[in-house]
Amino acid sequence: MAAAALTVDHLTKTFRLHSEKNNSLKMLIAGKKRNRYEEFTALRDVTFDVKEGEVFGVIGENGSGKSTLLKCMAGILQPNAGSVHVSKRMSALLELGAGFHPELSGRDNVFLNAAILGMARREIAGRFDEIVEFSGLESFIDSPVKTYSTGMYVRLAFAVAINVDPQLLIIDEILAVGDVTFQQKCLEKFVDFRNEGRTIVLVTHAMNSVKDMCDRAIWLTHGVVTGEGDPAELVEAYTEMMLGDRNRNEDGSVRRGSGEIQIERVELFVGASETPVKRFRTSDSIRLRLHYRAEKSVPKPVFGFAIEHLGGATVTAPCTRDVGLLPASVSGEGYVEIAMDNVAMLPGTYDLHTSITDFNRQHEYDNLHLALRFDVMTGKPYETGGLVTMRPTWTIQS
Ligand SMILES: Nc1ncnc2c1ncn2[C@@H]1O[C@H](COP(=O)(O)OP(=O)(O)OP(=O)(O)O)[C@@H](O)[C@H]1O
Ligand SMILES: [Mg+2]
Repeated sequence: MAAAALTVDHLTKTFRLHSEKNNSLKMLIAGKKRNRYEEFTALRDVTFDVKEGEVFGVIGENGSGKSTLLKCMAGILQPNAGSVHVSKRMSALLELGAGFHPELSGRDNVFLNAAILGMARREIAGRFDEIVEFSGLESFIDSPVKTYSTGMYVRLAFAVAINVDPQLLIIDEILAVGDVTFQQKCLEKFVDFRNEGRTIVLVTHAMNSVKDMCDRAIWLTHGVVTGEGDPAELVEAYTEMMLGDRNRNEDGSVRRGSGEIQIERVELFVGASETPVKRFRTSDSIRLRLHYRAEKSVPKPVFGFAIEHLGGATVTAPCTRDVGLLPASVSGEGYVEIAMDNVAMLPGTYDLHTSITDFNRQHEYDNLHLALRFDVMTGKPYETGGLVTMRPTWTIQS
């Protein structure tokens, strides 16, 4: 069993909420300003540990105490009871802007920040170029950070945090802010970190990241740990709780959206057959048929679907807009058919989700989570690992 990189032991944190309303005018005049407050318990008796080399997730709804927990870990907040023990060099990436001085340039902030995180000036100077390169902010590094956009801010903060050589990295919901390229870069860095046996604690609302990246997770509800263990199971339970039972259909699917147009059912066919099936083999040619019904005429709908492996990875997620298939409007009943030849997916169980949005992909008419679950069985080629085959050609030179 690996040693603990971080131990949180019966941690309780309360905040005092001052209630102004009790300071009535009469009392003020009488000079009796009463200092009344209420205690609010943000974390109650929280206990868990994070092992060396783990990627550990913390999930929970807004206000459940995740950021408070991370601040206690980082030593920014003092707990009222219990303790946090950190046995590794830690670097924390907390709320936006924490640690940055708005008037100073990006360059000065890098030095300031890295020094706070425990790096010597010479060390920082040695890594400066790498930090700036990772942030991608070469042309802005001498401008004051108050002129940075939110995304730029995060890029710089992240670049510093990972380059101070932490053995334990704690991150509060930052992946959501950067653009796709930067998110990808961060993910790669996480994988490197994990391979190097470093430890990461991650707070995020991105449930796919939790499922894909974390080895273990906890779920906080009103400051109490209400679940701990396998990330995929926790995420499932959490999503179910958040979406509520009212949206859950008999077959386990969950529907969201405004509802003017909906996917009523999805069929899967193999080859030219018209008999719906729930399984096929690697390299089969398949068709998906998304049957819709629109209560009224819906302008420029965009139909999409996602195929997700049971383990949480999204295999593909295309939509009609990607290929410029843009009907001026759709009404009544019909179906959208997607043909896919020579499918590269390897054996496993997969879930199909569908969505219908407006042209800008902003408004959701319909989102059917788990429209269809299907299995891929062994076909050709046979491969021992992975989700898809690249149909490799192997040669060995000797
Ligand atoms: N400094 C503070 N003073 C008083 N109350 C606070 C303070 N910081 C946090 N709280 C309260 O503690 C609770 C937990 O807040 P916290 O920021 O930890 O939640 P969170 O899980 O990070 O939420 P989110 O998902 O929105 O980031 C909230 O009810 C919040 O109002
Ligand atoms: Mg938070």
